[in-house]
Amino acid sequence: MAAYVAALPKVELHLHLVGSAPPDAVLTLARRHPDGDVPTEPDALAEFYRFTDFPHFLDVYRRVNLLVRTGADVVTLVAGLGAELAARTVRYAEVQVTPVRNRMAGIDPDDLAQALVDGRELVRARHGVELGWIFDADAALGLPGAEETLRFAVGHRPAGTVGFGLSGAERGVRRADFADVFRAARDAGLHSVPHAGETVGPAEVWAAVRELGAERVGHGIGAATDPALLAHLAGHGIALEVCPTSNVRTGATASLAEHPLPALLAAGVPVTLATDDPGMFGTDLDTEYRLCHTDFGLDRADLADIARTGARAAFCDDPTRQALL
Ligand code: ADE
Ligand code: ZN
Repeated sequence: MAAYVAALPKVELHLHLVGSAPPDAVLTLARRHPDGDVPTEPDALAEFYRFTDFPHFLDVYRRVNLLVRTGADVVTLVAGLGAELAARTVRYAEVQVTPVRNRMAGIDPDDLAQALVDGRELVRARHGVELGWIFDADAALGLPGAEETLRFAVGHRPAGTVGFGLSGAERGVRRADFADVFRAARDAGLHSVPHAGETVGPAEVWAAVRELGAERVGHGIGAATDPALLAHLAGHGIALEVCPTSNVRTGATASLAEHPLPALLAAGVPVTLATDDPGMFGTDLDTEYRLCHTDFGLDRADLADIARTGARAAFCDDPTRQALL
């Protein structure tokens, strides 16, 4: 099965740029910026990455994000990610970038846009991997942060821009509050791909679909308890970007044994597998596919179906999609 998964051409549709940085890269940045409050030794970083709950994870993520301070840092992350994707037979990936957090870390928006263009070209030339960008608003930064995110996405629109997202906390921040910004993003031709139902139940997934026009949903596992919602997702072909290891590591689900992925598939919901923040969760896309076999009993045909679902749900061009179907 490992060889089968390794050879299977895949897409990766839920992946945060900063969260993709492997521990070595984060250690390098932490040593370069010792004021950054991130450990500079491997054992301490591993401990730092032991998340007690979801808010703790978000706090760690924010601190690591603050270490990425220049356009050159961004190009380094994109280049490292491209090599990792190529090693996992990933042909196309959509990568979430949070420009307001990057600006807060000191990166000029013009430099960020140029770094993304340069990094994407480098990855295509070196590895033949296509990248798309999803600019996500961090819910913790409220409407002003979301509006700034949209100004970046539409104003700079670096090559590869495909979508608009919403990440961060769900408790105490309602998806519906961002409806106007998502409407403006969709009017500007961006696809709507918010996180929803990662740590809360179906109501926020409904809100993502109804209020934000979600075409895919980040995580969405909270939908599993609502048969009408499952039927809606299945009927409208709205894919969930499911990240099993992430969910266990952040405490969103208690264990893989309790993970709803099999129930989502059984309900006919389109499911694509993803890693979310592989550098922080110690995972990679092949590991996510393999655990679907070992823990959920999926066979080769099931895994190939999941890979094809990803290709159908991707915002790539048609030749890229056809090569994967
Ligand atoms: N930012 C990075 N990873 C995230 C996740 N899993 N959920 C919400 N926001 C995030
Ligand atoms: Zn995510």
